[in-house]
This record gives sequence, C-alpha cells and structure tokens, in this order.
Amino acid sequence: MPEIREYRPSDRTALYDICVRTADAGGDARGMYSSDDLMGDLFAGPYAHLEPHLAFVVDDGGEAVGYVVGTSDTPRFVERYRAEWIPLVGDRYAHPTSADEPMVALHCGPEHMLVPGLDDYPAHLHIDLLPPYQGQGWGRRLIDRFLATVDAPGVHVGMLTANVKARGFYDRLGFTVLPVPDPGPITYLGIRS
Ligand SMILES: CC(C)(COP(=O)(O)OP(=O)(O)OC[C@H]1O[C@@H](n2cnc3c(N)ncnc32)[C@H](O)[C@@H]1OP(=O)(O)O)[C@@H](O)C(=O)NCCC(=O)NCCS
Repeated sequence: MPEIREYRPSDRTALYDICVRTADAGGDARGMYSSDDLMGDLFAGPYAHLEPHLAFVVDDGGEAVGYVVGTSDTPRFVERYRAEWIPLVGDRYAHPTSADEPMVALHCGPEHMLVPGLDDYPAHLHIDLLPPYQGQGWGRRLIDRFLATVDAPGVHVGMLTANVKARGFYDRLGFTVLPVPDPGPITYLGIRS
C-alpha cells in the first residue's frame, strides 16, 4: 500500500520524472523542451531544495510516484529562488530553444510569482501524481498534509486554465477562484489553511 512521507534528497530523480510526465496541462511533456529536466528545475526542484519540510511524496515500494511541494511565503521564496536556486541551475539553459524560451523567462524572472491580489494567500503549492496513481484519493491526502504543515493563513495555486481535470479536483477540495488582474492563461485558486 503506498504511503505519504516527507521528501528525501534521494527522491530527486523521481520528482523530476513525475514533474515532466505531468507538465503539459496534466499530460506528458517529455520531449517538448531541450531538456526533460527543465520542468523539474522550475516547478519541483527549487521547492524540494529550498523548502524540503513542505515537500511530501506518495511512496510506493520505496519509489516516489506523486508529490506536493510549495512554500509558506511566496515573496520570501522568490527572493531565495533568485539568490540561491538560479546560481545552482547555472548555465544549464544558456542556449534555449524557442520552445524553452518562455519557460526559461519564468526561471530568470521568479518575480512573476508575485501576483497582485494574492496577499491573503501567501503560500502556494504544486501537486502532481503519475497517471496510475491519479483518481485514488492521493491528491486529496497530499493537499491535506500540505495544509496541515504550511505556516500561512491561505494557500494559492496558479494552474493552466486549460487543465480542466485539475480544476475539477481543486473545486471539489474547496479552492475558490481568486480574481487577479491580467491572469493570462493561468487561473488562480485559493484555500484558507
Ligand atoms: C490533479 C491531481 C493532483 C488530482 O489528484 P487525484 O489523486 O487524481 O485526485 P483525488 O483522487 O485525490 O480526488 C480528490 C477528490 O476530487 C475529485 N476529483 C478529482 N478530479 C476531479 C475532476 N476532474 N472533476 C471533479 N472532481 C474531481 C475526486 O472525485 C475526489 O472527490 P472525493 O474525495 O470527494 O471523493 C492528479 O490527478 C494529477 O496529478 N493530475 C496530473 C497533473 C496535474 O494536473 N497537476 C495539477 C497541476 S495544477
């Protein structure tokens, strides 16, 4: 029976693998960018590195098959992303392809996470499960664990509006839409913690 446990550094490869396999609006993004690590370097690695106490995995037989990662304090996370994570990634994406470019721009400008209107929801998270583990309650359990651990009055997620399955999940868990100016392709949702 799988179980939820805290993230360990030895989960890094699995974390990155789950991330890219779910990064195309919930579908498999392998092969979309010059490196299959790009999605992990943006949406999983920095959280596991900077906020390991808020990183939890679903463990099946010793292998991570799903995760939730995040931060209690988005402005502080943005500062640390710039000061600590960008130097660690170094020049891995110095020569981006045209597909890479918008993603590398997000990496080089972590301040995109500072969205006006989210002050009451200073925490944020990312959650992904491998397809065989979806639809069995693991997502709800991961969110419960995150909400029980996070030190913030509210948590937001920024999700691609095109990911209608994820939207059904968040709605069911009680997240509500947070109006922000110029959301672009992203829908911002929030929940009190
Ligand atoms: C989105 C995701 C994290 C949800 O996790 P999950 O384990 O599949 O969801 P759960 O089985 O825990 O579902 C929890 C509840 O939401 C409901 N739910 C899930 N998806 C739903 C949907 N599309 N529409 C309506 N309800 C939904 C479930 O029925 C369940 O209800 P219940 O607990 O009251 O019985 C997971 O499917 C996933 O990783 N998807 C691919 C990656 C992704 O899209 N990540 C989110 C990026 S923003």
